[in-house]
Amino acid sequence: MAMSLGRAAVSDGEAPRYPFHDCPALETQPEYEHLRRGRPVHRVTLPYGGEAWLVTRHEDVRFVLSDSRFSRAASIRPGVPGFFERPVADGLGYLDPPEHTALRALLNRAFTARRVQHFRPRVQQIVDDLLDGPGAPEPPADLNTTFAQPLAGRVVCEFVGVPYADRHRFEPFFKAVVSTSSFGVAEIVAAVERAQGYFAELVGRERRTPTDTFFGELVRQSDAGAGLTDAELANLGFGVTIAGYETTSSQLCNFTYLLLTHPDQLARLRAAPDTIADAVEELLRYVPLISYGGNPVVATEDVEVAGHLIRAGEVVVPSNNAANRDERVFVDPARLDLTRQRNPHLTFNHGPHFCLGAQLARAELQIGIRSLFDRRPGLALAVPTGQIVWQQGSVLRAPTALPVTW
Ligand code: HEM
Repeated sequence: MAMSLGRAAVSDGEAPRYPFHDCPALETQPEYEHLRRGRPVHRVTLPYGGEAWLVTRHEDVRFVLSDSRFSRAASIRPGVPGFFERPVADGLGYLDPPEHTALRALLNRAFTARRVQHFRPRVQQIVDDLLDGPGAPEPPADLNTTFAQPLAGRVVCEFVGVPYADRHRFEPFFKAVVSTSSFGVAEIVAAVERAQGYFAELVGRERRTPTDTFFGELVRQSDAGAGLTDAELANLGFGVTIAGYETTSSQLCNFTYLLLTHPDQLARLRAAPDTIADAVEELLRYVPLISYGGNPVVATEDVEVAGHLIRAGEVVVPSNNAANRDERVFVDPARLDLTRQRNPHLTFNHGPHFCLGAQLARAELQIGIRSLFDRRPGLALAVPTGQIVWQQGSVLRAPTALPVTW
């Protein structure tokens, strides 16, 4: 039934609107499978500005994400088709080489593997505190506000060097910043400005009282010669904090929901908790986290993708979500299989914009999910699945609340 729906939507008319549907819970666009088979580069109409090419095969998505003839910077020029009425953020994600390369090199010096590795025990402490500490909730409780958000928030704040106690200064603006259509442009602009104002204060605080954190290191590197302006530093601090906050808290809820609704898989994980790293990779592959599949780019010259000519100036949407279900790469891709071994998913992206925080996110998800199911053996949804409300008009897919009991 889903497939026939899928074929109709992609074969009728020249350029169907995309996303094709609002998908319930964590389902993907049913059209992807049909497109991957016969139309791997397909003309679609985006919510704002007009038409684009949707790319759905793993190999082609990787190609688009890593080929320098596709520009991120051009994707936010006025009038370019996209998923936002007007892109507001102008951060790292919208830079091209060489500006992007230089900034990533600077960030990599502050966001080191050593710093992440040393942080793992701290992640475990935060998880232990949330599950069994003095303020731990009694059942039933909302997993989102009692576990997912405080875990992601405390970890990213401590790692970046943002006092968690100040979260009322920036956290309320995050939902607006990751909105596609649930907030108006004026609200989003105001939210970004207020959050950036807070991070600008933090630059000054870091100079007065230096910390051994990501942001502290970034400010020092900048002052020692990298020469970023205070506004650029504030923008980066804010960008990294939000990138690590909303994504990880969404995934903690999504993963818990999937495990509770796939009892066979959960039983397998409980019987072999040391397989948590593979399980997390599979959950990352399976969740179509970005509501519209992946971020658009613009061809700066004519480029061939899967034998199809993309003309200079045309927009391409490489769908990481569609690539993660490509039957050429993943056996039985529609099945959640926590024992899957070969798992080159694109959930952390690919190429120059590969997620800076992937290792930190993995640490949080592995430690958080393992400890949650270990300490709460009777964990279950507190409401029928049909009563769970899912975010709408946002970049990220996740439940607005996840009522659980144990
Ligand atoms: C499950 C959690 C996470 C997921 C699924 C995720 C996913 C992604 C994706 C898909 C991108 C590319 C976005 C684009 O197309 O521009 C990205 C970029 C980024 N992520 Fe993550 N992320 C996660 C957690 C984190 C964490 C914990 C941090 C840092 C504390 C972080 C920091 C960043 C940054 C700074 C970028 C921008 C990289 C660039 O444009 O060069 N992310 N992430």
